[in-house]
Amino acid sequence: MVGELRKFLCPEFIFGNDSRLLLGQYLINFGIEKTLIVTDKNLRKYAWFNDIIKRIKEQNIQFDIFDEVTVNPRDFEVELGAIFYEACDADIIVAIGGGSVIDCAKGIGILVSNGGTIYDYEGVDQVDYPIPPLICIPTTSGSAADVSQFAIISNQVCEYKMALASKTLVPDMALVDPVVTLTCDFNLTVDVGLDTMVHAIEAYVSNASSFITDIHAIEAIKMIIIHLPKLANDLENLEERGYVMQACLNAGLAFSNASLGLVHAMAHALGGRLDLVHGELNGILLEAVVDFNYDASKERYDEISTLIQQNSNIKSGKITDVLHEFIANIRHNRSIPEMSSEAVDLYDVAKYVLNDPCIVTNPKTASIEDVVKIYEQIF
Ligand SMILES: [Fe+2]
Repeated sequence: MVGELRKFLCPEFIFGNDSRLLLGQYLINFGIEKTLIVTDKNLRKYAWFNDIIKRIKEQNIQFDIFDEVTVNPRDFEVELGAIFYEACDADIIVAIGGGSVIDCAKGIGILVSNGGTIYDYEGVDQVDYPIPPLICIPTTSGSAADVSQFAIISNQVCEYKMALASKTLVPDMALVDPVVTLTCDFNLTVDVGLDTMVHAIEAYVSNASSFITDIHAIEAIKMIIIHLPKLANDLENLEERGYVMQACLNAGLAFSNASLGLVHAMAHALGGRLDLVHGELNGILLEAVVDFNYDASKERYDEISTLIQQNSNIKSGKITDVLHEFIANIRHNRSIPEMSSEAVDLYDVAKYVLNDPCIVTNPKTASIEDVVKIYEQIF
């Protein structure tokens, strides 16, 4: 409704090729003495990573590196990182990595400023004290954790992914550099690209969407439709990398403020149970969830369907068919049994879906039976 109160949060960011090389200058601007770099071991082998390190050494900036982060970051990795931060006496965190690294860095920040365990901060607005300054250099075009107020951490005790949302988790600075994504392989590029598409769609149909999040969500959907297929066929194309990274940024600004929906709530619960790839799982869940939600947000889903058809060769009409064709054209998704041989109690997994903060803004209320039915469609 026009005139309704709306809040929009986003960090300072610099978008563009080689923006990562501005890190040293920003660290000096922050007036810090010691930096903790959070990353994963795999990224340290790349030339662009070493360019960053070389620059900050040239500026005589003290730093330590914590690289014990894995895909789907675990609760114990956050705890280990917080101990590392204290031991090296750092006063700023720099996250260089994909969503897993950035989320782990946010978790480390929470523990060093607030104490306790990471389980204490699950849900919305549970973090009381600001985390240390956080600068992010995202290395994938997917999670948009570098601009969002979300962090997703795997709870290893109960085997699901906890969603934490708080304005204290919006980073202070993001250096969004398409060059670093050139080292992403086909699967990673497409999986995180599908995550971006789901972020934009869920933000657009969210109960908390607004005129300002809609602008970013629609632009992200359009850019992904046009540029993700081109990039999937030409991974070395820096211009396409740039467009897809812009889509990711736009989707991040949209969902950080409008939140997400049932696809993400279901992906967090099942992905945490079976340790699945987030973007790929989102792509598998999307069609079934849109089918379930359609009646509650017909106009918006029809708009998305029209937008996709206007910007691609897909002419299927119905939103679920359009999405199915778009995803199938980019990659042939594996089924869940191909991704994991573990048997799961779907009712037990669905319990966590109903407690996930993302379900609150889904356009249609889902019962535990609805969630189980949707899971059954993808198995
Ligand atoms: Fe996501």
